[in-house]
Amino acid sequence: MAKTMRSTAPLNAPRHVAIIMDGNGRWANARGMPRTAGHRAGVERVREAVRTAAEAGIQYLTLFAFSSENWNRPKEEVSDLMGILRFFIRRDLAELHSENVRVKVLGCRQNIEPDISALLMEAEDRTRDNTGVTLMIAFNYGARDELVRATRSIVAAVTAGHLDAAAIDEATLSAHVDTAGIPDPDLVIRTSGEQRLSNFLLWQAAYSEFVFMPCLWPDFDRAAFHDALAEFSRRDRRFGAVPTPNLAVGS
Ligand code: IPE
Ligand code: IPE
Ligand code: MG
Repeated sequence: MAKTMRSTAPLNAPRHVAIIMDGNGRWANARGMPRTAGHRAGVERVREAVRTAAEAGIQYLTLFAFSSENWNRPKEEVSDLMGILRFFIRRDLAELHSENVRVKVLGCRQNIEPDISALLMEAEDRTRDNTGVTLMIAFNYGARDELVRATRSIVAAVTAGHLDAAAIDEATLSAHVDTAGIPDPDLVIRTSGEQRLSNFLLWQAAYSEFVFMPCLWPDFDRAAFHDALAEFSRRDRRFGAVPTPNLAVGS
């Protein structure tokens, strides 16, 4: 298998896309199936999303897989979700590696089952030197929890004398969150029609474009991904400055 996938990057492709993969439960309900069937169907869309990202020239793809609040779901559903994550890593890691994908995991590593923790570490270690798409799996991730952990680690560095409190700035915080060294997402996509962040990337999404799509995650195919990218390409990002002349109202 070729080590690098061909890229057909349009000029205005986002560098980093983050996706809130939502709607598995509703997808299953609509078919009279248990919610777990929706989660199983959802995981089948992940490889396709990674491939589409690679083809579109996207360098970083972040997928929200399990939030720090998802522990509040019924025990059986949580246990099924853990099983699906195990299955995904065991089945797909070799293929992701062969496609030159670098895996990174975002989220709190405490209080997760030891074998899952080991699998996540294996995924990161094995793919560390790959140079294709960086796939970031947000697992046991909550942005508020991330900001608390970042704050603690900054305070520890100050207390140890490695960091001057007066020198703390935005770059310091960016360097202590889970995405340290990764550019902020240009585009955040949420499937299932919900229009909220649900505690996802609160720090990093300060200037992201948002695309909310009615389609449920198990239906999110290549075409749906391209629709979101097309919508992104029509946006005028200003970052607080004045509109670019060619897109100004009336031009
Ligand atoms: C997303 O689908 C998967 C996870 C949050 C783990 P949901 O399970 O939230 O599906 P809905 O929102 O209930 O349809
Ligand atoms: C967000 O979806 C978390 C993931 C997609 C992993 P949820 O389904 O948990 O979010 P809420 O509860 O609708 O806000
Ligand atoms: Mg949901």
